[in-house]
Amino acid sequence: MSSTFNFNFADEDIDIDENEQLASVTSSLSIACPASTVPSLTPQVHDLTGFVARLPHKLNYSTLNIPDTDAQIPKRELWDIKLQLMHEEDMDDVKEEDERTKEALNGVDDVIPGVYEGGFKTWECSIDLSRYLSTEISAGTLTFPARVAELGCGSALPSMHLLHQALVKGHSLSLTLQDYNASVLQHVTVPNMYLAWALSRAEEGGWEDEGEIDVTDEDKAAFLNDLEMKNVHITLLSGGWGEEMLGYMNPAPSVLLASETIYSPNSLPAFTDVLNGCCLLGGY
Ligand SMILES: C[S@@+](CC[C@H](N)C(=O)[O-])C[C@H]1O[C@@H](n2cnc3c(N)ncnc32)[C@H](O)[C@@H]1O
Repeated sequence: MSSTFNFNFADEDIDIDENEQLASVTSSLSIACPASTVPSLTPQVHDLTGFVARLPHKLNYSTLNIPDTDAQIPKRELWDIKLQLMHEEDMDDVKEEDERTKEALNGVDDVIPGVYEGGFKTWECSIDLSRYLSTEISAGTLTFPARVAELGCGSALPSMHLLHQALVKGHSLSLTLQDYNASVLQHVTVPNMYLAWALSRAEEGGWEDEGEIDVTDEDKAAFLNDLEMKNVHITLLSGGWGEEMLGYMNPAPSVLLASETIYSPNSLPAFTDVLNGCCLLGGY
């Protein structure tokens, strides 16, 4: 029985250069899922300061204009991530998974169960969820949430929208960003946080929709300082879903976000364990 599968995406990543950014991607979620139980990585919290210190000197990005809203979310280019991974010899606490996630990124499989779960790429529903958040918050039908967790975040577009809004509008925010792979948090999620912060500081009309942005040591310090000053607290959490993860979810988030996370029947019980556990912890 095959241990890998492919979402059959037409493109390697969402192509945001095209006007029809949603139509450029087609997913097939009814693919054959692996039937056997796969090993799962132990949940682990990572130090944001350490990941920020390891940001490259430049980030290449493009900006998604979320349909039907005026929300913009910059994201790191997939090729830029690949380039960094190719040049990295040593990734300290993510060394173990490094080689295999690199293989996954360069291979044909979108997911390798138990090894790499797809977080390097940006998936279509994350745009839908970002649009939902933006629309509901603008309409006042959803209060800006103070405690949020995004499960299986990958490039974390919905969270990046909230982070940008928190920084621009002065909302305090406690945000837990969880991905199966620590290297996804390091190479995609944290760079996207940096880009959301950079966008929040750009003057009106001063943001290029795509390009390369400098990341100096001063910028890194200003980024971390700004998060602290604006009462934005970030928890980076890697590893497999399940009851063990709940130890890192207390106090419980008032909003749990997840997009394109329920493609494997095998991981559904672990996923719902986290959902149910958070509801119990939060008394919902
Ligand atoms: C297809 S990706 C979606 C990424 C992102 N939410 C998006 O929409 O662009 C699936 C995500 O779920 C996470 N994931 C999948 N199975 C998992 C598991 N058993 N435990 C923890 N995380 C898992 C992966 O880390 C990955 O980021």
